[in-house]
Amino acid sequence: MLFNMNIGDTTENLIHQISAQVKKQADQIVGVRPPTAEANSDFNKQLEEIGAIRGRPLYWPFISSGVGRGPYVQCQDGSVKLDLINGIGVHLLGHSHPKVIEASLKGALKDCVNQGHLQPGQEYVEMSEKLLALAKGSRLKHVWLSTCGTMANENALKMARQKNSPARLVISMENEFAGRSTMMAEVTDNPSYKQGLPEYHEVLRIPFYDKFDPQSKDKSLQALKAHIDKNKGNISAFCFEPMLGEGGYRSAPLDYFLPLFEECRKNNIAIWADEVQTFLRTGEAFAFQKIGFADWVDICTVAKTAQVAATLYTSDYNPKPGLIAGTFAGTTVALSAGSAILDEMSKNNYFGPEGKVQKIHNEFISQLRGLCEGNCKGLLEDPDGMGLMVAVTPFSGDAEKVNKLVKTLFKNGLLTYTCGKKPLRLRFLVPAVITKEEIAEAVSILGASIHEVNKG
Ligand SMILES: Cc1ncc(COP(=O)(O)O)c(C=O)c1O
Repeated sequence: MLFNMNIGDTTENLIHQISAQVKKQADQIVGVRPPTAEANSDFNKQLEEIGAIRGRPLYWPFISSGVGRGPYVQCQDGSVKLDLINGIGVHLLGHSHPKVIEASLKGALKDCVNQGHLQPGQEYVEMSEKLLALAKGSRLKHVWLSTCGTMANENALKMARQKNSPARLVISMENEFAGRSTMMAEVTDNPSYKQGLPEYHEVLRIPFYDKFDPQSKDKSLQALKAHIDKNKGNISAFCFEPMLGEGGYRSAPLDYFLPLFEECRKNNIAIWADEVQTFLRTGEAFAFQKIGFADWVDICTVAKTAQVAATLYTSDYNPKPGLIAGTFAGTTVALSAGSAILDEMSKNNYFGPEGKVQKIHNEFISQLRGLCEGNCKGLLEDPDGMGLMVAVTPFSGDAEKVNKLVKTLFKNGLLTYTCGKKPLRLRFLVPAVITKEEIAEAVSILGASIHEVNKG
């Protein structure tokens, strides 16, 4: 008898009961609320302690209570905030989603906390199968799980370098973000993330698409060609985000990407889409499907919304045994919850031009546009993005004011973050469960906070 195939009706019932209890608590969260006085003194002590332990304070005074509802999260100080950053894009179905809670509980009952590549469990198998099944239209035939986007990217780079050996260089974009390991910090185009680190000179850059520059497509292509000419046979991979994330939430059309891919293909350079941020968020499972270049991709990395990370690759890039491994593939809870999120997104009408993601996008952009043209005219502009990734430029991108705005929004109950450099933009990672009314609440807090910062 295989016990792991069926946890039994009694256990299923208990899980439903626990989930119903969580929902009861979560349902008491009805909207943004300031901190409660009695929670405050303990909370401030906790903040000081965690700041001392980490060696630097938290970015903002946020410690979660562990309860939320949809886009709302309750903090340890009793406040409720509208969370439009979601752990930098992890809680795709918002907070305390019943399907995620139930899948997590099921995962927690299994025999081990972490699963690895030597002794995987059922959740590892299911997650791998589902990820590949979602990669429709692509040539991606294999998947290797890991625990974070950085590690998925490291595996991708090793696959590209091994297959295209001895080529070692990587072409990437200006303003790219790729993760926090030594090599991914090198691929990342942000000097403040690598202060004091040695430079390895293994990354060549081309500019990303700029919708304000009519010459943009040509500039990127010429830069790519120049790198290839100068480094013949020594470029292993072209690593790019289909939509610049940290770099400013800029997307690009298909006819920007295709000539770049053609050059890569001609020169034996792996086409590697870093979809760590875009996966499940664009209105299709993968941005390569949304933009339309699925069949070009040799390697693709995902993480965040999947709750674990993965490198997907074609048969040509399947590495030799020994190149990739690692103790952890993911916790059983993360694999189980990630699988439930994949099911929910792929089965319940989130994708496609009429899907829930696109509807949320249209509503969010339209309400932001209303603010740009109305109450915040001259103070807010350029709402843009793709799917659940939306950004807008306050105060012409003035870094000091935008940073101040993020903190003011926090105080007023709206969690957002920044992206880009010049201009510095305000970014939203919107959960796929937000309603029109909740978007209106967010936009109203944004409008009031902009005027608050503007007054000084
Ligand atoms: C495009 C991209 N690549 C890689 C990473 C790194 O992922 P992780 O933080 O899970 O290591 C991120 C994280 O923000 C990302 O946005």
